[in-house]
Amino acid sequence: MSHPLEQLCDEALREIEAATDDQALETTRVKYLGRSGSISSWGEQMKALAKEEKPVVGKLLNEVRNALTAVIESRAQQFRSQKESSTLSKIDISLPGTPSGYSGYSGYYGYSTPDGYSGFGRTAEERASLHPLTQVLDRSIEIFRRMGFALADGPDIEDEWHCFDALNTPPEHPARNEQDTFYLPDARLLRTHTSTVQIRTMEAEPPPIRVIAPGAAYRRDELDATHSPQFHQIEGLYVDENVSVADLKGALEFFMHELFGAGTEVEFRPHYFPFTEPSLEVYVKSKALKGGEQWIEVAGSGVVHPAVFEQVNKRRGDKAYDPEKWSGYAFGLGMDRLAMILFDIPDIRLFSQNDLRFLRQFA
Ligand code: PHE
Repeated sequence: MSHPLEQLCDEALREIEAATDDQALETTRVKYLGRSGSISSWGEQMKALAKEEKPVVGKLLNEVRNALTAVIESRAQQFRSQKESSTLSKIDISLPGTPSGYSGYSGYYGYSTPDGYSGFGRTAEERASLHPLTQVLDRSIEIFRRMGFALADGPDIEDEWHCFDALNTPPEHPARNEQDTFYLPDARLLRTHTSTVQIRTMEAEPPPIRVIAPGAAYRRDELDATHSPQFHQIEGLYVDENVSVADLKGALEFFMHELFGAGTEVEFRPHYFPFTEPSLEVYVKSKALKGGEQWIEVAGSGVVHPAVFEQVNKRRGDKAYDPEKWSGYAFGLGMDRLAMILFDIPDIRLFSQNDLRFLRQFA
């Protein structure tokens, strides 16, 4: 005949096994192991036992308590994992995910939208990403914003006056040549630079002016690794009292350091543009740049020529841009060039080929 404690243990084990949820299990636990449970009350009964019986029953009591505690814990664990897997089974893990990534539109130049690539083996969970040119544009705008520049805009199809005359470019200047410029049958043209937006901004607003104008420009260049008939510039114009070439250099140096890193060397070399005097080409060089230790030209710039102000005044019919009172600087950054340097892109044609193997590298 087994000890009553052992019988109690068997009884408890049967109840534990019969428990179908964690509530029933808890009721059983309290019934046997709780403060006034039937196993616990054996502790009290021990006192009444004969001296030689005490250690034997005490040992048995411990064993029973430990065994029941372990079995209850493992049954509780079973209930927990059953609950988890039933929750999981309600989730359909074969459902396609929601494509994450960029959800707003900010591009002048387009970017890889998920829709644009349906049918190209796109999977639902693939991330869309911004075109490398858009990424450089966004970074550049952010830097110029901090310097107080606002965004300006103008049309890609222009007239000769905004593209050349207003910018002090004489009729015989080679840039006007049909070999260099795309003319439309009605004598309008595709702007050869974004400097047209300088003029349009000054026509519309009196000084002071501090704007940048990103956009496409067009020249009749043969398409090769470094030339494209359509490319991109960021034009800048700052007109105020006492603006000097020192301000120009400071602003562009700051911009290059922000974009390419503080260790970037910036050099200004004398140049000629009809619409600025003096005119400077801007070069950068840095060990950190992927292109390595060489000077790379990234912009044209200069102090706005008084003749440009006079042209604008004539159009406006006032003296708002009095060259005696106002001065300014302007620059035109080659955006494709900036992106090629920043991302170590060897061929300008990659920007317009829409090859996913290329674009995915900028996701
Ligand atoms: N418009 C010039 C170009 O396209 C760049 C430039 C802009 C130079 C502004 C001076 C001032 O080459």
